[in-house]
Amino acid sequence: MSKVVERESAEALGVARSLLRRAERIVALTGAGVSAESGVPTFRGAGGLWKTYRAEDLATPEAFGRDARLVWEWYGWRRSVVLSCAPNAAHRALAGASATRPDFRVVTQNVDGLHVAASDGVGPPPLELHGSLFRIRCTGCGVGREDRSVIDATSIETLPHCKTCTALMRPDIVWFGEPLNATILGEAARLASMADVCLVVGTSAVVHPAAGLADLTRRGGGSIIEVNVASTPITDVAAASLRGPAAVIVPELLRHE
Ligand code: OAD
Repeated sequence: MSKVVERESAEALGVARSLLRRAERIVALTGAGVSAESGVPTFRGAGGLWKTYRAEDLATPEAFGRDARLVWEWYGWRRSVVLSCAPNAAHRALAGASATRPDFRVVTQNVDGLHVAASDGVGPPPLELHGSLFRIRCTGCGVGREDRSVIDATSIETLPHCKTCTALMRPDIVWFGEPLNATILGEAARLASMADVCLVVGTSAVVHPAAGLADLTRRGGGSIIEVNVASTPITDVAAASLRGPAAVIVPELLRHE
């Protein structure tokens, strides 16, 4: 097991920076914690969405089959929350690194679109493993499209419908029990396996397969750097674990990279 260097120890930032400086290929794997300081709720911590809501009622294909109106109402609310939020300093630092370093890619579990917003179209697009709140997909013919409209969940008829086949649209989000998009996951796994460093930011690292990506880096001979306000299953295998808010630590970490 690699030596964990915690943020509180004087070496930690230096170790992490030196790993990043030497790295040719870097993958940043992010989770809800990277958006916490933008005001987007996380899932599992204090105030997390899964403390108030039951995933089985809202984020499964069965839930949508039972009550599409309720599911859409919840996703409409989440959209409205995110639309009132802006990228923070961590999103901007990661977007800056992607735009300026040739082999720096952001892979995110987040569906809030804030990495895309921070990048402003510059650099390679972040890989969104779990989909996006602002994409919808037809339950009939499967066609997808961008959609930022206000959701009217008064009745099934007022929900978004397909412009091609008229069937009901659903959020283009990976729900519990569903597989990830194989192309996106394959590309993320390829990048993680080849990376010299996997920078893991703000994830509880309990949802697979996303959580396993950091391990691919480690098994390929690379190192893990973790940024989180708390310890996670990744902490013990990280070469450096930096404790604190992403919006403070990530810009500090990437400043001279
Ligand atoms: P979680 O809510 O499980 O974990 C958030 C992590 O962020 C925790 O480890 C917190 O300690 C940490 N954190 C909180 N505030 C932070 C801050 N300001 N700076 C740094 N870290 C902070 O969210 P995820 O790990 O992203 O799935 O959850 C994974 C998946 O589970 C999500 O993508 C979602 C959910 O069900 C889907 O939507 C498909």
